[in-house]
Amino acid sequence: MQQQRDIFVTNALPFANGDIHLGHLLGYAQADIWVRFQRMLGNNVYYICADDTHGTPIMLKADQLGITPEELIAKAHAAHLQDFDRFHIDFDNYYTTHSKENQQLVEEIYLTLQANGLIETKTIEQFYDEERKMFLPDRFIKGECPKCHAKDQYGDNCESCGATYRPTELINPFSAVTGKTPVMRPSEHFFFKLSDPRCVEFLREFLEDKARLQPEAANKMREWIGEEGDCKLSDWDISRDAPYFGFPIPNAENKYFYVWLDAPIGYFASFKNYCDKTGGIDFESFIKKEKATAANTEMVHFIGKDIMYFHTLFWPAMLNFSGHRVPSQYAINGFLTVDGAKMSKSRGTFITADSYISQNLDPEWLRYYFAAKSNGAIDDFDLNLDDFVNRVNADLVGKYVNIASRTSRFIAKEFDNELGDIAAETKALIASIIDRKAAVKAGYEKRNFAAALREISAACDDVNEHFDQMKPWEIAKDESKRQLLQDLCTGYLECFRLLSLYLKPVLPIVAGKVESFLNVEPLSFAALTASLEKGHKIGSYEHLMTRLNRKDLDKLIEANKEALAAVRNDAADNQKSDNVKKEVKAESKEADAGDYISIDDFGKIDLRLGKVLSCDFIEGADKLLTFQIDLGEEKPRTIFSGIRKFYEDPAALIGTYVIVVANLAPRKMRFGVSEGMILSASTKDQLTLLTTLGELAPGAKIS
Ligand code: MSP
Ligand code: ZN
Repeated sequence: MQQQRDIFVTNALPFANGDIHLGHLLGYAQADIWVRFQRMLGNNVYYICADDTHGTPIMLKADQLGITPEELIAKAHAAHLQDFDRFHIDFDNYYTTHSKENQQLVEEIYLTLQANGLIETKTIEQFYDEERKMFLPDRFIKGECPKCHAKDQYGDNCESCGATYRPTELINPFSAVTGKTPVMRPSEHFFFKLSDPRCVEFLREFLEDKARLQPEAANKMREWIGEEGDCKLSDWDISRDAPYFGFPIPNAENKYFYVWLDAPIGYFASFKNYCDKTGGIDFESFIKKEKATAANTEMVHFIGKDIMYFHTLFWPAMLNFSGHRVPSQYAINGFLTVDGAKMSKSRGTFITADSYISQNLDPEWLRYYFAAKSNGAIDDFDLNLDDFVNRVNADLVGKYVNIASRTSRFIAKEFDNELGDIAAETKALIASIIDRKAAVKAGYEKRNFAAALREISAACDDVNEHFDQMKPWEIAKDESKRQLLQDLCTGYLECFRLLSLYLKPVLPIVAGKVESFLNVEPLSFAALTASLEKGHKIGSYEHLMTRLNRKDLDKLIEANKEALAAVRNDAADNQKSDNVKKEVKAESKEADAGDYISIDDFGKIDLRLGKVLSCDFIEGADKLLTFQIDLGEEKPRTIFSGIRKFYEDPAALIGTYVIVVANLAPRKMRFGVSEGMILSASTKDQLTLLTTLGELAPGAKIS
């Protein structure tokens, strides 16, 4: 017998200022499937989650709504719980980070880190809104992009040209809260010393554990940490000044813990709350370093790829240097796209969990589709609507459910729901399904649910083929073959029992219906060999699952378009961009890379080769250069570009070839009209204009 495992499983804590949508549900469904599988093996699992409730966006949103943050998070809690429940995400505990358990754990961990010399203070300068009397996170500062001059861009990156920069680089910055021009103000901040050699050394070792991280994740970590002797990690700003909705930092005045410090500790707090409620669980054996090692407990985090930075760098370092256990496994999911593109509110593909249920769509369809395409890698996941319909109807209903409906008819009509012996003709078929057990289990265990479902689907094909060959409908016409008919159908129902068992982690509700239809104990892997017996009475067959109609998905999309009108599209809700480092920004951008464009979209950009006729500084503009560019047109074009600090000697550019976006709408600027954009490549502190390898006539088309 394999030893029973003790596993503490978490899902990322959703922010309390947004609705649950299908993108969220991907990671929650994956975790829930894994948890249900572990339970069916007889392992001990504690499946824990909570709302992530702190931070500036939540504080300001409550303010806007004229309610307290506590009221706001209470509403979100109820809504989130309901959504998870409707998608059968079966948490043991769903708590909140705004709890006394969390505050206590946060303080303990912080004070231990401080005692270990890993906390320091530094004075930094930040934008301050004098009217609202608060420091502004990057996302709450807007202004003109220093690069492409698009107006109304956020303080961390430009949605028009994709540039990333510091809020101080914005032209004419203003506060997104009050519209006022912010001022720079110094303030003392607390930092966690992630760059401390102890942390760096620990993290390098941490990432080498192959069971812990998907290979892509380990690589990403290696990249973030940097080469030996060239550490790229910087210290982490863990404090925010009042006013802030969060926990006050002990022994400091008007300082609060940054939301991302208390959020992961919220995993522990929710688990502690559960342990205190239920009793009998040794909480410390799951979270304290020595005790966890001695008890061999596991801690598994299911998270999306955009929050890897927080979970694989700060979090394990905090844990390790405060006497806590570190995660034994990460299950990181990619981002959900719909029909190949990033979820979009305007296209109606930003689909909320609530709208899906309101359209009477079956949550198990989605669970099945998520499972059928989840292979355990971090790649993005495409919800292709046609494929969704096809897989549900062809595989799930057409193959699996079909076995029960076509078999039970005979058992009900001819034998009053009483089973016979398992027909000799079906024994090999049943054995072949049992033989697939190892592959099915391995698939679930490794979170390669797609592999598990392929096995199941192939087994369904075998059963249906067997059925078609045996032609029970012909046998039913022959009075002398009644026993064979009953035994055959019993054999097929036994197949169906096994298949339902295999599918149970994905389809818990269907499995429950099957249990009552077959009148058997809850299906588990231990029950694999306990077959249906002669004389057993089954219940009457009720429809297990209907087909998915494409039209209903179209309605769903429409409904989400309509909902748009009611939703304030508040991108400032995004906590992740809240004053985190450039690396994280680059990462969250990458996380959004599902937003493909078509070749036609690309074709809309008229790129041309241009020759620089002149290039000069402009009086009174400390960021701009002015260019005269020959594009092979009647007149050269005037183009302004915000690259002055990278080109000290503009005249040196004369005669060079550059790449110009020729059909960008002309922009009126203080110094004249800019008639295009010159392309450049840039990193945080370097920039170079783009050019061609050979020289062609000015105006040459680039494609
Ligand atoms: N509050 C943080 C997590 C703190 S954990 C200590 C957060 N919240 S979130 O609401 O933005 O996201 C919750 C989870 O959903 C995260 O794992 C996130 O990666 C995931 N997803 C959010 N949008 C997603 C998609 N479009 N696709 C797939 N996963 C997505 O991050
Ligand atoms: Zn821009």
